[in-house]
Amino acid sequence: MHVPVLLPETIAALAPRAGGRYIDGTLGGGGHAEAILEKSGPDGALLGIDRDEAAVARCRERLSRFGSRFEAVHADFASMADVAAERGFSGVDGILLDLGVSSFQLDEADRGFSFRADGPLDMRMDRSRGETAAEWIAARADDPAGIARVLREYGEEPAAARIARAIAREQTQAPIESTARLAAVVEKAVGGRRGAARHPATRTFQAIRIAVNDELGQVSRAVEAALGLLAEGGVLAVITFHSLEDRIVKRAFAAHEGRDVSLQQGGSEWRGDLPAVERVLRRPVAPSEAETASNPRARSARLRAVRRIPAPAGVAAGASPRISPFPSPTCLSPRRTA
Ligand SMILES: C[S@@+](CC[C@H](N)C(=O)[O-])C[C@H]1O[C@@H](n2cnc3c(N)ncnc32)[C@H](O)[C@@H]1O
Repeated sequence: MHVPVLLPETIAALAPRAGGRYIDGTLGGGGHAEAILEKSGPDGALLGIDRDEAAVARCRERLSRFGSRFEAVHADFASMADVAAERGFSGVDGILLDLGVSSFQLDEADRGFSFRADGPLDMRMDRSRGETAAEWIAARADDPAGIARVLREYGEEPAAARIARAIAREQTQAPIESTARLAAVVEKAVGGRRGAARHPATRTFQAIRIAVNDELGQVSRAVEAALGLLAEGGVLAVITFHSLEDRIVKRAFAAHEGRDVSLQQGGSEWRGDLPAVERVLRRPVAPSEAETASNPRARSARLRAVRRIPAPAGVAAGASPRISPFPSPTCLSPRRTA
């Protein structure tokens, strides 16, 4: 069972309407998708995407009662523009990305995402392609500095160098192929648990999972693709679970808002990226204490949402007129942009 996080807040931001067209890029257990389909009845349509075939199969079954209003596609969300184009699904009213992994993935030991149960060290969301976590480690056994960089950047792991050296050393003795072995290697490298609230391998598992699935690259590409698919007035809502992906979303939204030098401040030139957007939520929304108490996995969730707005006057739709993200005030003189 996967409990959808920030469900009422997400539905309020997307405001699904009858006849609307929606994309859920992260179907998972189908909880958000179901709510969107219910709210957009009787004739709203939802195109669902997940890179995990098991999630696609689960949602086809769970949401079968919506008939032709719902279609589920096995793909990654970075390729949503192609997925939508192939189906003539354009002028979209709302797009949701609920990032990270689902409870199904975390709870199934054979997916290899969790150190809580022993299983093969896989960690791929899409099991039909790409390197497993075990293969990822094996390919880097002679590069502890490279492993350390990933643990530091993606896991914000303070003991990255020590853990990376231990992983490389143990890998050369016998391949690390199970979640329990990787957890034990990390635990030994940092000197046991010492009463810590979090398992010492938490950050290492997160970092390797992000690398194996190219999670950050996927998010950057998906945000741009999603904004391009939205109709004017359409909303992109993104739920992030750690600071790295939240930063990517925040920066991408800010670039499209043209906030650095705004027309509102008396400037005469749009400095944002196109498509232009405005914020639906002034600040990122976090779960309430009640939600976190009933669903601890919601703890780090943050919801951001923007609405596509018409291209500013003088800027041709489709143009990308941004000159500098931090222009000086002297750059504010009137100037035609192509
Ligand atoms: C947090 S769950 C989504 C839960 C869903 N909103 C629900 O209500 O059940 C995230 C899902 O997104 C999928 N996912 C993560 N990254 C993806 C990507 N780049 N492309 C497509 N699906 C992705 C995962 O496989 C997982 O099923």
